[in-house]
Amino acid sequence: MNNKATNVTWQKGDVNRGQREKFLGQKGCTVWFTGLSGSGKSTVAIALEHALTNRGKLSYRLDGDNIRLGINKNLGFDHDDRTENIRRVGEVSKLFADAGIMVLSSFISPYESDRNMVRDAHQTGGLPFLEVYVDCSLECAESRDPKGLYKKAREGKILDFTGIDSPYESPKQPDIHLHTEHQSVEQEVDVLIAKLEQLNLLPKLG
Ligand code: ADX
Repeated sequence: MNNKATNVTWQKGDVNRGQREKFLGQKGCTVWFTGLSGSGKSTVAIALEHALTNRGKLSYRLDGDNIRLGINKNLGFDHDDRTENIRRVGEVSKLFADAGIMVLSSFISPYESDRNMVRDAHQTGGLPFLEVYVDCSLECAESRDPKGLYKKAREGKILDFTGIDSPYESPKQPDIHLHTEHQSVEQEVDVLIAKLEQLNLLPKLG
């Protein structure tokens, strides 16, 4: 990336993340959902948000379509624009996690190098990061086609569509691997909650 911001320095405040987390009674982290369009990323993130809210934890969803309606509306779907999309939402995720929020980020994020960039940025900042592979075959995602976009892509009405004429690089070692063709949303949420508990990012019940 061409870095145009020069002569800038980080301004440290008097209030740190630990104080914010104490105040909120929780730990900030980023749960990153990656997978094909129609794989179920948003569905499972919405269900997890609901479950965390029921447990009194503040979470916030960042979703590809929503973000592209606002802050990233000037980005398209070629390789460079997807990389910039992920770079920006990775940085936004870090900010929210630093605020003490449990961030649920759902983006196709098809390129391994982009996902690694976000993971590294979190690790450098000492922020917990979990990569969740929302796995679903192309055939299944295409049969679901919730927004009718695969049909349009097959008809040549959308170019650079992930899985059709644009690649998806599957995570090799995700922290969590969901199989949305075979698992219910409830089962998926149970897996995620168990992992958050195991990592002490969520207190166990009882
Ligand atoms: S990413 O590849 O840059 O991570 P992102 O998750 O933000 O993508 O946005 C994907 C969403 O944009 C899809 O769920 C779909 O609704 C919409 N979309 C529109 N055009 C495309 C395209 N060419 N490829 C993939 N998704 C597209």
